[in-house]
Amino acid sequence: MRRPIVVGNWKMFTSLTDALVLSTGVRDGVEEFSGLEVILCPPAIWLTEISGVVHKSAQNIALGAQNINYLSEGEYTGEISGNMVRDVAKYAIVGHSERRKYFAETNDIISRKVAAAIDAGLSPIVCVGEKKRSDDSIKEIVSELEDSLADIKKGEYKDIIIAYEPVWAVGADIAADPDYCARVIVKLREVVDAATPIIYGGDVNASNAYNFVWRPEIDGVLVGRASLKVADFIKICRIVTEYKKIV
Ligand code: PGA
Repeated sequence: MRRPIVVGNWKMFTSLTDALVLSTGVRDGVEEFSGLEVILCPPAIWLTEISGVVHKSAQNIALGAQNINYLSEGEYTGEISGNMVRDVAKYAIVGHSERRKYFAETNDIISRKVAAAIDAGLSPIVCVGEKKRSDDSIKEIVSELEDSLADIKKGEYKDIIIAYEPVWAVGADIAADPDYCARVIVKLREVVDAATPIIYGGDVNASNAYNFVWRPEIDGVLVGRASLKVADFIKICRIVTEYKKIV
């Protein structure tokens, strides 16, 4: 059975103090949701500090990087590799729409990053989604996923998480229609494995999370803005736990 997942993507927010308060609050708040996998993706600079916080007690929280380079090391000022991240985290978000949009990441670059994450022993959280709102974008999303996974083998599908994130919903005040979302996910599942978790992201908050997670097709959520407030994020984790009937 696939595990239910809630990812918190903090993006380029938080001071060190904020990061410690937020991670401590989440650690204490999600301890009771033992069947849920909570993945916090803070800015890379806080990963080491936060690993000391979350790994103290909670068994169900893991850390992820928001991005990695596809190379393992070298003269690339400012970059961070999967081999570095693996000492403090288990996951890496790859191909987030903000990376695609602001840092010109193509499917080709992303598929290399997915392979690099797996080589480093990390599980990539691979983001895909249509750019414009439409009821007819399933083909576009499926081919984006196929291209983003071009460098990995079928046997590695069990090591990845897919996040379906319509670009127009990320950071906006409108989430995707949950029915459409479930239909997209059924098609994405044909590309990967029955064991690969597929989650939804894009304007998820404590008021709308249940719309997505009561559906068996949707294994969890990727949360941006609402992951920056302890109470909201814990509410979302509680909702996923309740709707997936796990304790
Ligand atoms: P949001 O961000 O929840 O603020 O829309 C989602 C994301 O990071 O993909």
